[in-house]
Amino acid sequence: MPATCVIGLQWGDEAKGKLVDLLAPKHDVVVRYQGGANAGHTVVSGKEVYKLHHVPSGILAPQIQNVIAPGVVIEPNMLIQELTGLEARGISPRSNLKISERAHVVMPWHLLEDRAMNKTVVNGESIGTTNRGIGPCYRDKVGRTYAMRMADLVSPELPNRIEEIIRAKRTLLASLISSEELAELDPEKITAVCQRWAQSLGGMIGDTTYFLHDQLDAGKKLLMEGAQGSLLDIDHGTFPFVTSSNASGVGVCSGSGVPPRAIKRMIGVAKAYSTRVGGGPFPTELLDETGNKIREIGREYGTTTGRPRRCGWFDAVAVRYTARLSGADYLSLMMLDVLSHFEELKVCVAYEIDGERTDRLPCQPELMRRCKPVYETLPGWNQDVTSVRKLEDFPLKARQYMDRISELISVPLGVLSVGPDREQTIFLI
Ligand code: GDP
Ligand code: IMO
Ligand code: MG
Repeated sequence: MPATCVIGLQWGDEAKGKLVDLLAPKHDVVVRYQGGANAGHTVVSGKEVYKLHHVPSGILAPQIQNVIAPGVVIEPNMLIQELTGLEARGISPRSNLKISERAHVVMPWHLLEDRAMNKTVVNGESIGTTNRGIGPCYRDKVGRTYAMRMADLVSPELPNRIEEIIRAKRTLLASLISSEELAELDPEKITAVCQRWAQSLGGMIGDTTYFLHDQLDAGKKLLMEGAQGSLLDIDHGTFPFVTSSNASGVGVCSGSGVPPRAIKRMIGVAKAYSTRVGGGPFPTELLDETGNKIREIGREYGTTTGRPRRCGWFDAVAVRYTARLSGADYLSLMMLDVLSHFEELKVCVAYEIDGERTDRLPCQPELMRRCKPVYETLPGWNQDVTSVRKLEDFPLKARQYMDRISELISVPLGVLSVGPDREQTIFLI
């Protein structure tokens, strides 16, 4: 009956979308439960490449129900674009997608605010958000007074609600955004936009919480699709250079409305190296030819924003922390093929902070910035692995690398990935 969770163990983009798409046919429902259009999950099906932002990665299989749960923040324009894009490619996402009426709406003022705030320097650098209105929307959710939920879009109270919020936002945002932008906040226009959203999405908006409870009672299998990664978790990540939701395993229940006892299996997903987009400390970052080589071979450019991703060696200190935080039962180790082209590989096994060795991730960004990685060097395998389909067929040195990572983070290997295609996956579980 229970749920399996797919959780990123790094700073996002660990190839969660690929894994969710592969696991989906063994489940009845796929659930996105936090984040919003900041996520960019890639699913490759034959020659087709799908980039999903709100829509759960189970959408390609028509028999699977997909749910956008209360913890997600939805930018309806982008969601509608995403649905239209899928429809143009012969998929009918509207027939197997439910959107929670409790999910919060990213409103036009949230997008303006995110863009304006993104220039702000915090702890020496800017967060470098995806500009998708995520932080401002979650801020209003927690603040409650000026929040908008999907249920409000279909409520007869909508015009009053918009008017009320805009009146307050015009004052609150006056020092942050330009007068031209403030003028964009026109109650009548925005009400009309919301009505169009409601018309397009209304048929899918409703309860998802009772629905998921009923599914569990009926013995159905749920697949929970995490967005971002555990190091971007608002409470437990590399704050303030994080996103605004619980992106680690601890967020599954609060975001979805599914109780902890329903969770049976946590699959932690990590790349065989590290990447990060946006600001914030990154101890194993490689600002040299090796980093560039990882970026080019791994095509490490953002799925949502197209920004080049910062690249570095695998950080076993950080992933040991997130594997414990997220309760990973298995590790899904991705992008192994990218490391086929290196003479030697490094894995960070500890940090040195001002000459003191530690195997723990510090809390303060200034301490994280001073972390010097202590590396263990392993030989590269220098052999193409993209056509490996069985564990035994990996070169010995690749096995040694994977086993060492598994040992360092104390999580058994569950899935190995040697390329973006579905076939390029080795399941050990
Ligand atoms: P997500 O946000 O965690 O779903 O990950 P993204 O989709 O943002 O980024 C992962 C990228 O790596 C996508 O372009 C995938 O198609 C690609 N990918 C997935 N697995 C592999 C792999 O094993 N090797 C390579 N080379 N690419 C992969
Ligand atoms: P997926 O689900 C990688 C990063 C942004 C920025 C920080 C805050 O595809 O793994 P936000 O817009 O959320 O306020 O930005 O978080 N970020 C991601 N990085 N993958 C993601 O999602 C991300 N979602 C947000 O780059 O540093
Ligand atoms: Mg991504």
